[in-house]
Amino acid sequence: MCGIVGYIGRHQATPFLLEGLSKLEYRGYDSAGIAVYHDGKIDVEKCVGRLDALRQKLIGHEPVGTVGIGHTRWATHGKPSDINAHPHVDDTGMFAVVHNGIIENYMPLKQELVKKGHHFKSQTDTEVVPHLMAEYYNGDFEATVRKVLSIIKGSYSLVFLCAKEPDKIICAKKNNPLVIGLGKGENYIASDIPAIISKTRDTYILADGEMAIVMADSVRVTDLNGKPVDKKVFRVTWDAEAAEKGGFEHFMLKEIYEQPKCVRDTLRGRLSRENDEISLPELNWTPDFLKKLRKIFIVACGTAYHAGIVGKYYIEKMARIPVEVDIASEFRYRDPIIDDSCLCIVISQSGETSDTLEALKEAKRRGAATMAVTNVVGSSIAREADQVIYTYAGPEIAVASTKAYTTQLIIMLILSLYISKLLGKIEDKRLHDLIQGILRIPEQMHEILENVDPIKVFAANYASCEDAFFLGRSLDYAVALEGALKLKEISYIHAEAYAAGELKHGTLALIEEGVPVIVLATQPHVYDKTISNLQEVKSRGAIVIGIGMQGDKELAKHANSVITIPQADEELAPILAVIPLQLLAYYAALARGCDVDKPRNLAKSVTVE
Ligand code: F6R
Repeated sequence: MCGIVGYIGRHQATPFLLEGLSKLEYRGYDSAGIAVYHDGKIDVEKCVGRLDALRQKLIGHEPVGTVGIGHTRWATHGKPSDINAHPHVDDTGMFAVVHNGIIENYMPLKQELVKKGHHFKSQTDTEVVPHLMAEYYNGDFEATVRKVLSIIKGSYSLVFLCAKEPDKIICAKKNNPLVIGLGKGENYIASDIPAIISKTRDTYILADGEMAIVMADSVRVTDLNGKPVDKKVFRVTWDAEAAEKGGFEHFMLKEIYEQPKCVRDTLRGRLSRENDEISLPELNWTPDFLKKLRKIFIVACGTAYHAGIVGKYYIEKMARIPVEVDIASEFRYRDPIIDDSCLCIVISQSGETSDTLEALKEAKRRGAATMAVTNVVGSSIAREADQVIYTYAGPEIAVASTKAYTTQLIIMLILSLYISKLLGKIEDKRLHDLIQGILRIPEQMHEILENVDPIKVFAANYASCEDAFFLGRSLDYAVALEGALKLKEISYIHAEAYAAGELKHGTLALIEEGVPVIVLATQPHVYDKTISNLQEVKSRGAIVIGIGMQGDKELAKHANSVITIPQADEELAPILAVIPLQLLAYYAALARGCDVDKPRNLAKSVTVE
């Protein structure tokens, strides 16, 4: 999730572009750039690193001009570098483009454009856009944008500048945010409100499938066929801090609500609804390579480790390859039995966690093939691993990981399907059902997020408790671990997760009158056993909140209250069931007055041992 700004008016564009981008810095980025029109040409300046690096670069030759666009990049395709930074231009420099999102079909488009004589400089998906503009330009900027939008597939907020028609900036949106700030004799464009809030509070919030032709004195919004759209002015009443959080009280809540989009982005281009194809071109594994694997190790820390536990269930169940999951700080010092007959998968949101990085190096030293699942392109872990699959969760700012976890689960799931398909271990019907189920997840997440009142009530009732327990069997146990971690790290309530069948081997002694116990019951094959464990704690006075599938009447009979998730295949349930637990932790922390986004003693990226 990169930052976008644009300006057209009477004043110099560069100062606003830099200021606007600085207001989006909190989102995280790895490079920055601007493009400003002047005297028949577009001047592009960009570089890897922080905005300050760009400011330094501009000293003495700041682009002059009253029309410009700017961008801070969070790499998705191609590592962070000067060349990969936006804006991107075509060979003649007539078009400059900034983009947030992913162009899914950029590869075939790029190949075609190269055949037609276009020269590409970057590794990005975005660069196809200015080349397409140059290829189809017929003297009508607006018509050419429409043509190009009809060709590209994927998600975008796109902003275009054309040296032949510098009286306008054109922008368009699909599945990525874009706002137009309305000024007097000047107008602004931004991917997010904080960038423009110091200039104007009157905005048009573009909807999917809309584009805007922004001139100094007017803004015209149309659909993709050119039909005018009557936009209502949205007056921003948030203060600057609330605007950064998109109107949410905390980044954590914003990120919880971003999960449907993050899952969609992570799935984009990887699963086909039509023919059950799984596309992971990042991996060059053959059936032969997989057949020779003696064991897969999954190594990670914290929440990413919990995603690894789910990954073990998936891979072992579907692909029937033994999997060992390790905490990175243990793995690196425990002399693991790992060699060239093994594959080591590391999972890390930041890609910089020191223990995970060192564990990865250790696995490599011992001859294992390595693969990373990470959210940060070009991170140390991404560079070190033989192969990388990226989650497209966008920058995660709250210390407590939420959207990174669900996208990690998505990757572990499609990876397991990919391996089992290559090995011929999964029946076509099962594969079909799972793929269709996965594609429904974003919608089902929305459904959960629209009905949070029962969670708020439970969090308010039990926010003053000192201890809480999370129980589950099979995949529910893996989710219980994550639920307990979320609760303890942000609300400081002592929380423990147990495999439900293990409780009676000691921990049951801690269950007494009034202790809240969250019981996950989404796994049909162990459902009855879970209910028995629920009864064991309930009969000892625990207040039980059950997390189950919609329509589960049995759970409602036994638990004190029930929170439901939409009906889903048992393999998919963890990706949904974790959301009520994230919300429970969030609202409990809120009720206790904790600093939700920055819990005490914790850092977002743990680069020390
Ligand atoms: C918990 C949390 C941490 C991280 C852990 C690994 O909410 O965020 O447990 O999951 O520090 O971090 P990454 O994934 O960046 O390696």
